[in-house]
Amino acid sequence: MTNLKVQPTYLKLNERKIMPLDGPLVDRYNRVHSDLRISVTDRCNFRCIYCLPDGNLPTVSKKMLLSFEEIIRVARILKKLGIKTVRLTGGEPLLRRNLSDLILGLDKLGFEDISLTTNGYLLADCASKLKAAGLKRVNISLDSLEEDKFASIRRRGNLKTVLEGLDAAKLAGLTPVKVNVVVMAGVNEDELIDFIPFASKTGTTVRFIEFMPLDSNGSWSLDKFVPFDSILNKINSKWKIEPCQIRDNSAPSRYFRAMETDVVFGIIGSISKQFCSTCDRLRLTSDGSLRNCLFATDETNLLGELRNGNSDQELELLIRKTVWGKKIAHGTDQIGLAKPSRPMSMVGG
Ligand code: 5AD
Ligand code: SF4
Repeated sequence: MTNLKVQPTYLKLNERKIMPLDGPLVDRYNRVHSDLRISVTDRCNFRCIYCLPDGNLPTVSKKMLLSFEEIIRVARILKKLGIKTVRLTGGEPLLRRNLSDLILGLDKLGFEDISLTTNGYLLADCASKLKAAGLKRVNISLDSLEEDKFASIRRRGNLKTVLEGLDAAKLAGLTPVKVNVVVMAGVNEDELIDFIPFASKTGTTVRFIEFMPLDSNGSWSLDKFVPFDSILNKINSKWKIEPCQIRDNSAPSRYFRAMETDVVFGIIGSISKQFCSTCDRLRLTSDGSLRNCLFATDETNLLGELRNGNSDQELELLIRKTVWGKKIAHGTDQIGLAKPSRPMSMVGG
């Protein structure tokens, strides 16, 4: 069994007592929020084993889904409060009809960055349209480079179509294209070294992600969990590596260089090297709930407030309170690994 060692990084945070009513979106631990994840649908055309059970699943009804106008209104208020970057997620965001219209609207608000996380299956057909609408870049989930293993992990689609999506994204200039690999023991951990030549060949940035207990089918267990250090050791068994100074804005990924190939890759140690102390993220679900953490067990229902004729000022106050209520860290370092109230497919990656 994997021995889970957690490195808490949050102990130096000082607690603030009074919520400011103006200025940047800050929580009581002085974390300023500048990144918004918008889940545009909870539906998905894949059933990845680390995310969803197989078969038909209940989904958010149409009338409970935030309209593009409602999303843009929330985004406009959040932009005023200091949100700089936006990522569109799902489920699978490309299943949301006319997504480029939403991107156009968000782009008009003047965000510094608009990106999208996708399984890549529908990307080839719409990459250039999304780019023209204002999308800057994409992250593509790709956990195996072997057709059979791809099929057993993702249960739908096929590797070839996802790779075509990846090529189309590069061609359309949705760069840098990042590739997300969820690492699972006994599933794809033997393949990690192959992603280095793949990254070199495709010119993509591969990021290995620790398997998080966010799946809705209960497939997470410590036995399947491969911690950051083991991921690093596995790559190091084949490629000589050195740490690399590149950092993402809120630094969830730590980067390394495979020296012989000059490939830079990242590892996201959400569990064993949690990055709660620098978290600047806020999440909006497709049914209009605002969440201050992927692992949150509560959330603010903005949908009702939006539809009840509340003013922007009233919404702003709710948003401030949601951020203010953010916990110092997620509870995945505690015994039993407390599960969040919603799985990843509903909150967005
Ligand atoms: N653990 C880690 N990453 C996950 N993702 C989905 N479920 C999990 C999980 N349980 C990742 C996907 C995708 C992004 C949306 O989140 O691979 O890259
Ligand atoms: Fe769909 Fe993404 Fe979940 Fe896979 S990880 S089932 S592609 S939402």
